[in-house]
Amino acid sequence: MRRILVTGGAGFIGSHFVRYLIETTDDEVVNLDALKYAGNLANLRAVAAHPRYRFARGDVTDPEAVAAALAGVDAVVNFAAETHVDRSLMEAGSFIATDVYGTYVLLEAARRAEVQRFVQVSTDEVYGSVESGSSRESDPLDPRSPYAASKAGGDLKARAYFSTYGLPVCITRGSNTFGPNQYPEKVIPLFITNAIDDQPLPLYGDGQNVRDWLYVRDHCAAIALVLERGHPGELYNVGAGNERRNIEVTERILAELGKPRSLVRFVPDRPGHDRRYSLDCTKIRALGWAPQHVFEEALATTVRWYVENEDWWRPLKSGEWAAYYRRQYGERLARSRPL
Ligand code: TYD
Repeated sequence: MRRILVTGGAGFIGSHFVRYLIETTDDEVVNLDALKYAGNLANLRAVAAHPRYRFARGDVTDPEAVAAALAGVDAVVNFAAETHVDRSLMEAGSFIATDVYGTYVLLEAARRAEVQRFVQVSTDEVYGSVESGSSRESDPLDPRSPYAASKAGGDLKARAYFSTYGLPVCITRGSNTFGPNQYPEKVIPLFITNAIDDQPLPLYGDGQNVRDWLYVRDHCAAIALVLERGHPGELYNVGAGNERRNIEVTERILAELGKPRSLVRFVPDRPGHDRRYSLDCTKIRALGWAPQHVFEEALATTVRWYVENEDWWRPLKSGEWAAYYRRQYGERLARSRPL
């Protein structure tokens, strides 16, 4: 039995990963999470009382909290991050603090504790916008948002700890992930919950930007595989090959909910909006991973989950979220045009 430290385990992908480990392995899981705006213990109700699960509240930028959480740990999986591009355009300091400095604090503590594996969970956004073809792990980094730049910084730190100290680091670069429990600032849960309430769906620019959508359970399976069998020092892209234009995803959501296309509003674009992400996933497939979910079915499952779990998301769409929404979309919606 291994003991795994999962950081950011109360967030969207992190909480699915904690549950995945508890369900599919006999690992002990320590979840270190600062419970900032997107961290939510309600995501972990299913495992909260499990004998192999333990929660520790703390920030990855705090060396004492990290050292305490690392006691007896065999491997670390780092999900703790600020992740929303639009927020990074308003305020980038917290992204540098968590995604770069926090990663450094974890790496340093992991090195001292001589952990056997460190998985750094990263993103396809570090490659920048890909007009044609697909990004390979050896491609140069070209992060174009403050968020992506911070994740790239964390990746480089992690690689340096492998080269310099031999810390057995693996990095995963996942594509846009979706599923239940995603905070309603990202486009899929935002549009689902807005549509349920007959509120406008603010589509940036011309709605033609392309993202490669990955169901959260498939993403977790890939990270678990890298934790198990990844080669130290290696990077692994994780994408399911579901490249869709934003307008297509939006129309699917509306169709699933039986809501009219008149809810769509084209709003002024996100500055520096990456046109397309696309990943070459030969390496992770060679390791033995393949996505198990069909995009349209997983999207339908996700829509159903939000319909059936209003008690999860309604309380989130007040307070901090509402202030963010007004700031992000108020002006834009005033300047919007219909489909
Ligand atoms: P998002 O979920 O923020 O992920 P990322 O920017 O990390 O890819 O956005 C996904 C796509 O949806 C992206 O092209 C931006 C677009 N988008 C909108 O059109 N409107 C919105 O309100 C949001 C949040 C995103």
